[in-house]
Order: sequence, then C-alpha cells, then structure tokens
Amino acid sequence: MGKAIEIRHPLIIHKLSFIRDKNTPSKNFRELVEEVAMLMAYEVTRDMKMETVEIETPICKMESKRITGKKVAIVPILRAGLGMVEGMLKLIPAAKVGHIGLYRDEKTLQPVEYFCKLPKDIEERDIILTDPMLATGGSAIDAITILKKKGARSIKLMCLIGSPEGVDAVREAHPDVNIYLASIDEKLNEEGYIVPGLGDAGDRLFGTR
Ligand code: PRP
Ligand code: URA
Repeated sequence: MGKAIEIRHPLIIHKLSFIRDKNTPSKNFRELVEEVAMLMAYEVTRDMKMETVEIETPICKMESKRITGKKVAIVPILRAGLGMVEGMLKLIPAAKVGHIGLYRDEKTLQPVEYFCKLPKDIEERDIILTDPMLATGGSAIDAITILKKKGARSIKLMCLIGSPEGVDAVREAHPDVNIYLASIDEKLNEEGYIVPGLGDAGDRLFGTR
C-alpha cells in the first residue's frame, strides 16, 4: 500500500489557512497555491538520489554531493493542477512538464479525459502528478492509470487537500503511488466537495463562475 504523507509545517499551515478563506481573492489565491507547492516540493523530493563529485572551492579540493539519477516530470491535472507547477519549477527548474486534461462531470462526479501530452521519455522519469484537490479520488486514479498506460513507472501524487475517502481510493487503486498532502480534511459532502476544503479550486484559481 502506498503512503499518505501529510506535510505539517507552520509555513504551509499558515498559507493554507489563507487559501481556504473564501475572502481571499484569486490573485492571492494563485500566489499562495504556488508558494505552498514550492514548500511541499522540498519534502516530495527528499528521496532524490545523490552522487559524490569532486569540486574545488577557492580554498581547496573537496568531495561534495549533487543530485543524480532519474529526471523529473511534473504533470498537472488540468485545470487546477496548473496552479502548482510554477512553484515546483522554482525548485526543480530542469523538470519537464506534461499535461493531463480531466474534468469531473458535475452530475456523475466521474472524470472525463479531454487532453494528454507528456514528455517523450516519460518512462525514464520520476513523475510528480499535481492537483490541489483529491476528493472522490476519481480524477487522480484515472490520471495515474493514463500515466501507467503511457509507460510511467515512478509516480508520486501531490495535492493540497484530500478527503479520507479520496486518499483511501487512490491507495487501493494504485498501491505503488505515495500521496503527499498539506492536509487530509474531514470528509466529502453529498456534492462531492471536500469539507472544510477550499471550494472549487479551478474556479478560485482562474476567477471563473
Ligand atoms: C477538480 C480538482 C480535481 C478533481 C477532484 O477538478 O482539481 O481534478 O476536481 O475531484 P475527484 O477527486 O472527485 O475526481 P474539476 O473536475 O473541477 O476540473 P477543473 O480543474 O477544470 O476545475
Ligand atoms: N474539486 C474541487 O475543486 N473542490 C472540491 O472540494 C472537490 C473537488
């Protein structure tokens, strides 16, 4: 079974409180989502492999460490996952970015795929799939299935807020995928929204509705 890792850091908790607040305007919401994604990226990349290299400081030679191993692909689930990409690229600027377009049918809550464009060497990369919201888990489960069909072998899921139901559903459907979240909230309501959550992430990011 994959792990569900809640990243509890005062900076993340503080910023998330403003993200959740319904009075936070889209401009600030966007900036805060980007900042939290950057802070979370620090933890999500903690297991990156390192190699020893010999360098020379102005004083002497020394053995130092640099990141090695597989390259990273960041894959946002459109639309709302886009809000997390820039923050992550600040820490991992060499990462390539793929896109998976999915939306939840408002009546059935089932995800509908409408776009997929991934880096060619996706099977060689460590993939970080981003979406602020993990509600029923349907979108994330489908996105991971799409990635695996395209050859992906190493996938992490990174969300701001998850419901216990969504976390369990992803862990059951894809036991090889670890999930990183800023918060696991209380529950889902009858409309499939996370409680207390933050509302509709896509609409709040892009000012729609
Ligand atoms: C939201 C969110 C997730 C999905 C989560 O996207 O960004 O992708 O819902 O719900 P689930 O876990 O029940 O599948 P939405 O479908 O509203 O599309 P949008 O990002 O284009 O607004
Ligand atoms: N999608 C959202 O944007 N918010 C929720 O609470 C659930 C699904």
